[in-house]
Amino acid sequence: MNIQWYPGHMAKTRRMISERLRQVDAVCEILDARIPVSSRNPDVEELTAGKPRLIVLNRADQADVSATARWSDSFRARGYAVLTTDAKSGRGAGKFAVAVRGLLAEKLKAYADKGQSGRVIRVMVLGIPNVGKSTFINRIAGRNVAKAEDRPGVTRAGQWIPIDKQLELLDTPGILWPKFDDEATGLRLAFTGAVKDEILDAETLGCHFMAYMAELAPESLISAYKLPSLPLREASEDAIAYGYRLLQAAGRKRGFLISGGEIDTERMARILLDEYRAGKLGRLTLELPE
Ligand code: G4P
Repeated sequence: MNIQWYPGHMAKTRRMISERLRQVDAVCEILDARIPVSSRNPDVEELTAGKPRLIVLNRADQADVSATARWSDSFRARGYAVLTTDAKSGRGAGKFAVAVRGLLAEKLKAYADKGQSGRVIRVMVLGIPNVGKSTFINRIAGRNVAKAEDRPGVTRAGQWIPIDKQLELLDTPGILWPKFDDEATGLRLAFTGAVKDEILDAETLGCHFMAYMAELAPESLISAYKLPSLPLREASEDAIAYGYRLLQAAGRKRGFLISGGEIDTERMARILLDEYRAGKLGRLTLELPE
């Protein structure tokens, strides 16, 4: 798999995060609830150690409800505060300020004891592209403040975003890329659309996704593509070969034909990924806590 990786940008982002951490009281890390491991930059855990931390499981509307509950428990057990949101509709976002104040309860009490109860709390918001960070920030700020654009070379201004009289946010300093430790991580990021489709051609990605879905949620495939049943995977078949057969079966049902009666598997692959990302295959979480 040919995944672009930007070590120079990442080093710069790490430096910028470390520098600005001193100015904040807490860190809010936004993850994609469908892939809470793959959408996390593993450096962040260490970089932000020592700060009170809130994990936001965003895109909860696209994830499996019970899987999200398991992830919440798992992060809480590791000392994080957790909030579940759907930034697109705004669901859960209203609880952000309360969650932050809960996380910083001791500090706030100490301020109050010193007669400084009006002090502004500052929170750094971290997230890799496409987790919904801009949408989330705009939601809780109640207006359009965050630039919905993340690509190398575009630096977000390190401005404080006021949420209420006593709460300010700082958007990710620099661009936080995911880390592709293994092929499975890269594939999950590609399935959800977090990394652009150029890393793998759509058809190959569609083959991988079909094979993945056949294991994770065969009934979703059967009902979405009106298949009588799923063909079984041969012992000799790899994921791509098996996924290709599934693409053919689904494409045939959809009537995606090209000249000569061949099935347009490339079109089927694009439709499959679009439909997954649009939630048409159901609410599917691709990673579970151990
Ligand atoms: P980013 O800053 O983390 O890169 O992500 P951004 O907010 O730009 O969101 C990327 C896309 O994901 C947007 O869709 C946004 O609406 C959608 N999104 C964000 N949060 C959620 C969520 O919790 N649930 C769902 N279902 N979608 C979410 P888009 O198609 O690029 O734009 P739009 O047409 O929806 O505005």
